[in-house]
This record gives sequence, C-alpha cells and structure tokens, in this order.
Amino acid sequence: MTADGYCLHYDCSSPVATRRLARLLGRLARPGLVIALTGALGSGKTAFVQGLAQGLAVPPDCYVTSPSFTLINVYPGRIPLCHADLYRLGEGADLEAIGLLEHLEQEEVVAVEWAAHAAADLPLDHLTVHLEISGDRQRRITLTAGGRETENLLKDVAAAWRQDPFSG
Ligand SMILES: Nc1ncnc2c1ncn2[C@@H]1O[C@H](COP(=O)(O)OP(=O)(O)OP(=O)(O)O)[C@@H](O)[C@H]1O
Ligand SMILES: [Mg+2]
Repeated sequence: MTADGYCLHYDCSSPVATRRLARLLGRLARPGLVIALTGALGSGKTAFVQGLAQGLAVPPDCYVTSPSFTLINVYPGRIPLCHADLYRLGEGADLEAIGLLEHLEQEEVVAVEWAAHAAADLPLDHLTVHLEISGDRQRRITLTAGGRETENLLKDVAAAWRQDPFSG
C-alpha cells in the first residue's frame, strides 16, 4: 500500500505547530512503530522528531538533535526512541552495517530521516511523514500509512487532532 495508502495532510504554520502534531503522534505510538521522514534539507524532520520525543515522554534534558554524524541516537522514554539520519549514507544505505536493522526488531519507536535511502529495508507497515516547505514558516505535512497498523494509528491521530483546542 503506497500510492493509495491512507493519508492525512496538515498545514503547520510554525515549528511549534509541527512539534505539537508530532507530540500527539508520540503519545499514541506503540512499540515497533517505524517512521520514515522525508522532505528537503531544513524542512523540519528533526523538529518533528523533537515533538515525537515529547509525546514519548523522553526526559527534557535529553535534547534531540540531528544524528547526522552519529547516524543513530537512542533516547529513553515511555517507549525508547531510536532516531537515525541516513543523509550521509546516500542511496542504498546498509542498515545492518550501521546497526539500524537491530533497532527495527526491538520494542522501540524508530524514526528515520532521509528514509528514502533505505526504503526497501523498512517494514512494509511503516508510517511515512513527508514535510514540504510551503512558506517561510509553513510546512505541509503528509502522514501516509503503509498498512493496517499505521492506518489505525492515523485514524487515532486524526481524532485526537480534532479534539485538540490548538489544532486549528
Ligand atoms: N512549520 C515549521 N515546522 C518545522 N520547522 C520549521 C517550521 N517553520 C520554520 N521551521 C524551521 O525550519 C528548520 C527545520 O530544521 P530541521 O533541522 O528540523 O530540518 P531537517 O528536515 O531535519 O533538516 P536536515 O535535512 O538538514 O536534517 C528549523 O530552523 C525550524 O525552526
Ligand atoms: Mg534533520
């Protein structure tokens, strides 16, 4: 399920709004969730993961930064958060060599920036988060389900966002 996967679109008009959406996703996430983050340089992938960390109750003193050089950072939380960045690896990234395959098999939430570099190695039922720069501080964020589990998660996200007084 790719082209016609269940998807949601959100227009986030500030980094705070992007983090709020991601935080909501983090609150609803279950162990084993894999999130593929795509979008141009500076589109807000790391900002999204910062919100995700808040939703997973990662302690505030664990500041989430881009793992561009370390490739993988793991943070403690309600569910451990594994944050990877494949930018430097380019196409056909070897996920085994960098230790990411191991994390994909654990009871963690795994968020991967530049995930298109390794799309074939991600489980089919992953969530794709695409960020498009639609203005100076505006980002159009599309969440696409890869299968049944992530589709159910997105339905919960849509319902929770509708109830969020700040969602408008
Ligand atoms: N609505 C928005 N959502 C997210 N970030 C925004 C938004 N508006 C402006 N920004 C700014 O865009 C930048 C996003 O940077 P961030 O490091 O999150 O991007 P990235 O996609 O991870 O980049 P890279 O590909 O280099 O890893 C930040 O400086 C942030 O303040
Ligand atoms: Mg980044």
